Amino acid sequence: MSKYLIGFILLLNFFDLKSEIIKLQTKDLVIVFQTDDHQRLGMVYMGDKLNDDNEYAQIRSAYRYDGANEGIFHMAYTPSGTWNLGEPALSLIHSDGNTSTELLYDSHMTESNMSNVSTTSIVLIDPVYKTKVVLKYKLFYEENVVEQWAEIYNQETGTLRMDKYASANLYLEGEDFYLKHYHGVWAKEMKPETTVLTSGIKTIESKLGARANLLQPPSFVLGIDGPISEDKGKVLLGNLEWTGNFKIDFEIDPYGNLKLIAGINPFASEYSLKAGEKFETPAFVYAYSAKGAGDASRNMHNWARKYKLFDGEGNRLTLLNNWEATYFDFDEQKLVSLFSGAKKLGVDMFLLDDGWFGNKYPRNSDKSGLGDWQENTKKLPNGIPFLVKEAEKAGVKFGIWVEPEMVNPKSELYEKHPDWVIRQKDRPEVYYRNQLVLDLSNPEVQNFVFGVLDTLFTENPKLAFIKWDCNSVIFNAHSAYLEKMKLPQTHLYVDYVKGFYKVMERIRAKYPNVPMMLCSGGGGRADYKALSYFTEFWLSDNTDPIERVFIQWENSFLFPSIASDNHITDWSKVGIKFRTDVAMMGKMGYDIVVDHLDENELTFSQEALKKYDELKPVIWRGDLFRLVDPWENPMAVVQYVSKDKSKSVMFNYVISNRYGAGNSTKPIVLQGLDPNKKYKIQEINVFPGSFKVIDETKVYSGDYLLKVGFNPVLSSRRTSVVLEISEVKN
Ligand code: GLA
Repeated sequence: MSKYLIGFILLLNFFDLKSEIIKLQTKDLVIVFQTDDHQRLGMVYMGDKLNDDNEYAQIRSAYRYDGANEGIFHMAYTPSGTWNLGEPALSLIHSDGNTSTELLYDSHMTESNMSNVSTTSIVLIDPVYKTKVVLKYKLFYEENVVEQWAEIYNQETGTLRMDKYASANLYLEGEDFYLKHYHGVWAKEMKPETTVLTSGIKTIESKLGARANLLQPPSFVLGIDGPISEDKGKVLLGNLEWTGNFKIDFEIDPYGNLKLIAGINPFASEYSLKAGEKFETPAFVYAYSAKGAGDASRNMHNWARKYKLFDGEGNRLTLLNNWEATYFDFDEQKLVSLFSGAKKLGVDMFLLDDGWFGNKYPRNSDKSGLGDWQENTKKLPNGIPFLVKEAEKAGVKFGIWVEPEMVNPKSELYEKHPDWVIRQKDRPEVYYRNQLVLDLSNPEVQNFVFGVLDTLFTENPKLAFIKWDCNSVIFNAHSAYLEKMKLPQTHLYVDYVKGFYKVMERIRAKYPNVPMMLCSGGGGRADYKALSYFTEFWLSDNTDPIERVFIQWENSFLFPSIASDNHITDWSKVGIKFRTDVAMMGKMGYDIVVDHLDENELTFSQEALKKYDELKPVIWRGDLFRLVDPWENPMAVVQYVSKDKSKSVMFNYVISNRYGAGNSTKPIVLQGLDPNKKYKIQEINVFPGSFKVIDETKVYSGDYLLKVGFNPVLSSRRTSVVLEISEVKN
């Protein structure tokens, strides 16, 4: 061995000895941090765990990046104004006007109050200004999920201005990175686009304020080292837990690696901290798998149900909603007549949608009344209490729609409290769906919004469900409250969301058992912080079943089916069987006039609801397998398997009209079953009068179904087939 080489090895050992190494580990994932010789903390590895713990120390020395640039790209939390000239995670203006920040490693500790969950805090401190940043990593061991956020402490004597304050800064080393991100508008939510990341920064973001995900959600799927595949390769699924403006930057650096910075969008949102104050960023959550997107999704679903989604492992109510059945055109009699339809159908609840309120400016269209939360005395002379009672008499529960964050200019609320409205008073107002947004940074407005719900519950203790809507984006962002309090206007976007959370905290503290649907003109709000208050969410107003196959497919990457509200409506002409089958793949509901169903349709629906009741534990709490991708095939197939592998439901659809395209010529290979168990397969949701073509007497081994598969016999006459797969014990 040459003298030179021995010297080099010694140098590496010396370097390793004095550097701090922090390992964060879940079942399959490890994130390794290491300090450099300046005490800056770098993220040196993120990926599959090594067998030998001692070998993490040598990872850093295996990379030979240019010395001058080293550290710029892979920082654990990149500051700005000093040595780093790249995209920062943190950008500060100190109380004396100085724009430089350096963050050096100080200490770290790990706490674990729950089995399976631990939180590591890494403290970084600026040696000059003493600004403290605590990086928080909450690890969910079994699920391979990490929630990551930052706390920023102003330890100066004056005000600290934060120009950028990201939640997470990751550094991933790899060959190619494939990013699947989403875009859309009303009724066209969650359109995926996959791109190979190239040098420079690719950003997904929102600047819409409220209904922030109308054009883009803060969710993505990342293929590391290769294209995203369902059952192989490294995948990271991510979501920013923030119900407002977000920004996620994917930067490919000169070494071809990926620097990911996710957080609140700093656009028009410089935030000031007074001396002694701290700011906690929202969490960025990600699920990792080296076994493909399917495994990552199942991990994310397990995590969401257990730790995040409100009552994620609990029950849900099936319902009949009147929105598409009546729109704004209803009265007491009409509603009461729909209750019996709900009962006849067999759902748990009736949900009264928009249009029940406003007197001076009745809510007879979306042009007026929003904000005036008193029952319209013409439509509902006996108020909501009467409806709750009548529903009870009919044998169903009663739920109600609200949109308490918003106001029509044509309303008494607007006349009385123009200063509660977000607007620029010297400029023309700009409306979205004829409405404006209330200023939730104002505690009085928070009280008002809380009061809308509190009054409803106080007057109607048996109210069983809330659909909480949010239809407008924020134009003319200006707060009369912040102006009065002499606080910067740039706090508005952030304080709006914080105000929303304060209201939700109060609601959940007082009403911990009420299921609530998060709706935002369709899927305009889809983040895991909002979902910590809601039991479910409305993916889209688009309920055409073919469209829904795609929308639900994409949402399934990030969200478990128990969170997905799927309604059977008259939006499309496709037969009720197809619509029902698709709605069954989540939390099922109806938005139809039951009396308009013919006898066969009614019988079919009643039977389907009974079957759903039986199978919903598998659909809601089982493992999801996306078997046939509708973007690449004329078919879509999705399978749910119970955790004990004794029951499975397989949904099969033809989604193309092209001749012969939907004929399933080959069997579909199943997943998730136990190779050593035996199964029988039955077709369910069979429309009265249709022939069964599946031989239900046969018994198959799990091994066979996992290797050869099963043919659902899809064709242009059988465009939707649902199969129940049950263990046979002998
Ligand atoms: C939004 C929702 C719909 C319905 C209407 C009522 O568009 O997405 O489901 O509640 O508002 O105005």
